[in-house]
Amino acid sequence: MSAPISATASAAPAANESGRRQILVTSALPYANGQIHIGHMVEYIQTDIWVRTLRMHGHEVYYVGADDTHGTPVMLRAEKEGITPKQLIERVWKEHKRDFDSFGISFDNYYSTDAEENRVLCNSIYTALQQAGLIEARDIEQAYDPVKEMFLPDRFIKGQCPKCGAKDQYGDNCEVCGSTYQPTELINPYSVVSGATPIRKTSTHYFFKLSDPRCETFLRGWVSGLAQPEATNKMREWLGDQGEAKLADWDISRDAPYFGFEIPGAPGKYFYVWVDAPVGYYASFKNLADRVGIDFDAWIAPGTKAEQYHFIGKDILYFHTLFWPAMLEFSGHRTPTNVFAHGFLTVDGAKMSKSRGTFITAQSVIDTGLNPEWLRYYFAAKLNSTMEDIDLNLDDFQARVNSDLVGKYVNIASRAAGFLIKRFDGRVQDSAMHHALLGQLRDAIGHIAGFYESREYGRALRTTMELADAVNAYVDTAKPWEQAKDPANAVALHETCSVSLEAFRLLSLALKPVLPKLVESVESFLGIAPLVWADAAKPLSSANAINAYKHLTTRVDPKQIEALLAANRESLQPGEQAVAPAPAKAAAKKEDASDVISIDDFAKVDLRIAKIVDCKAVEGSDKLLQLTLDVGEEKTRNVFSGIKSAYQPQDLIGKLTVMVVNLAPRKMKFGLSEGMVLAASAADEKAEPGLYILEPHGGAKPGMRVK
Ligand code: MSP
Ligand code: ZN
Repeated sequence: MSAPISATASAAPAANESGRRQILVTSALPYANGQIHIGHMVEYIQTDIWVRTLRMHGHEVYYVGADDTHGTPVMLRAEKEGITPKQLIERVWKEHKRDFDSFGISFDNYYSTDAEENRVLCNSIYTALQQAGLIEARDIEQAYDPVKEMFLPDRFIKGQCPKCGAKDQYGDNCEVCGSTYQPTELINPYSVVSGATPIRKTSTHYFFKLSDPRCETFLRGWVSGLAQPEATNKMREWLGDQGEAKLADWDISRDAPYFGFEIPGAPGKYFYVWVDAPVGYYASFKNLADRVGIDFDAWIAPGTKAEQYHFIGKDILYFHTLFWPAMLEFSGHRTPTNVFAHGFLTVDGAKMSKSRGTFITAQSVIDTGLNPEWLRYYFAAKLNSTMEDIDLNLDDFQARVNSDLVGKYVNIASRAAGFLIKRFDGRVQDSAMHHALLGQLRDAIGHIAGFYESREYGRALRTTMELADAVNAYVDTAKPWEQAKDPANAVALHETCSVSLEAFRLLSLALKPVLPKLVESVESFLGIAPLVWADAAKPLSSANAINAYKHLTTRVDPKQIEALLAANRESLQPGEQAVAPAPAKAAAKKEDASDVISIDDFAKVDLRIAKIVDCKAVEGSDKLLQLTLDVGEEKTRNVFSGIKSAYQPQDLIGKLTVMVVNLAPRKMKFGLSEGMVLAASAADEKAEPGLYILEPHGGAKPGMRVK
């Protein structure tokens, strides 16, 4: 029944004598400095469907994950929020865990890279690589922030594009003209952290010698087993021709201050986050193993029969097909059996966007009342084993969920169950279980399970829906509602309902990896044990009555989609916060001496009296008003301000207020905002709503400086 697994990257995995395989599966570890969005979910859903498929064969499967907690962004974000990195990652872990739970992602363990198991494993892998002669210390020169006293990763340096002169561009590429360059080429570079001009500074770094011929030889062999041709091609490109020595050594250390693990024997030096992140897969598994009594060492030893698969996005292939296998190989571990990369999610054909509201967080899906299993179904219908991008088309999403899940699948049960319960004591007709249509469905289950296992989910679902069509055609021909009118047709009616219900059971089996929760309700409705693949051959029996039919799922309501987009536009568009609110955090931090500023700092803010010469509502925004402001300059200024909840536009026209005039202009969905007006609000805006813009005493004139 199970399809053969794809080619393997390392030693061929074999089912042990009993046919029960040992399988460790991972999804990439999400960064702990942001929320889970539906792009991430593509990956976790893809992995989860695969894991459930294998569990339904009865294999010993462990699916582990963790938050990827270390690195500069987490450190700086915590600092900005006025909390410690540990506090930040603890909070985010809970949010991530909640999101995964609500999407039915069935991790056996969800852990953190900031864990003792991980430190121990990192140290031992590093030490082994050192002993193998694959670690080298070298001095390198890097950008350094002299104010913040830290080395700056490329993405923390901005400046003017050397090609087109655009301002505020990142250290490696220009978003305006698209050119790429070195951070050293930026004009007027500045540190994003402090604003200071970066200097060059030398420091000792540790390198993993990927250029060593041993690594190249190993990787050339390992790559031949990769499942995806696109991944193999990428690898070959990175490896170059034999003897071309294309692989560069990998810088695996970072200098303090850094949130991470200190490197043994190298005080002040930390493992680069991408070292301890993949090791985090093992740390999570070790943590699970110790708790439930799995022989961890046996699973990760070279030559083990256990299989190991990593599901990842195509953007992190390099780390998983070069660094990680090489780290494992030369530290005396087994290497991954395979790495499965998927493409990126787009929404309505475009990159997810905060201004369009398509940067959809997992939490917002739940909050809007959308059933996460609908998204599981939709993603699965689009997923295959390649690295192609997949698109969430919101209209298609509604249409497909409504027509497939409700129209084709759930309907079968609702049509059959009523008669069966009313007329036949909720029991099927045993002879009906031999109907030819059911034979066709049972034969197909093996193929469908095989499609899931080869990650051809779209095919699995297309096959399933074709079968559902056949079942509906059968019901339409038999017309149970007609049969029910004449008691003489009772046997025929019983057969129709029994065949439909058994067909429904088989379709539920086919859909179970994708819709685990829905199928759980089906199992309790049918009064059967949790379905596994082998149950294809075990039909319903008159020995057990089914339970009353309960509504299984509802249709997608277009209003929910609108609400979803609105929720993400609101919660995630910082640009709409044109009014400076007093966040609770800032209020709480007031006492902290480090937050005291000098008069010079204050003088940097150019505050002016502004006259509101015009004010309009902004079409398509329920937060913003568009203000035209006279600040005594030749031209008026255009400012978008999030004060719509508090003011009618006409009430503001002609009034004076206070404006920050030297704020960098911000491009917003509705146009350019050229400053900010000041308004007061409570620290906790939820508890005490209300916004009050500032107004000077009589006599103040537009353009006057406020100081
Ligand atoms: N922390 C690293 C992974 C370390 S694994 C040892 C990372 N984190 S991430 O949060 O940026 O991404 C987690 C996973 O989600 C990655 O596999 C990434 O490719 C995937 N996706 C992130 N955005 C995505 C889409 N828009 N679409 C599909 N997958 C996406 O990378
Ligand atoms: Zn440019």
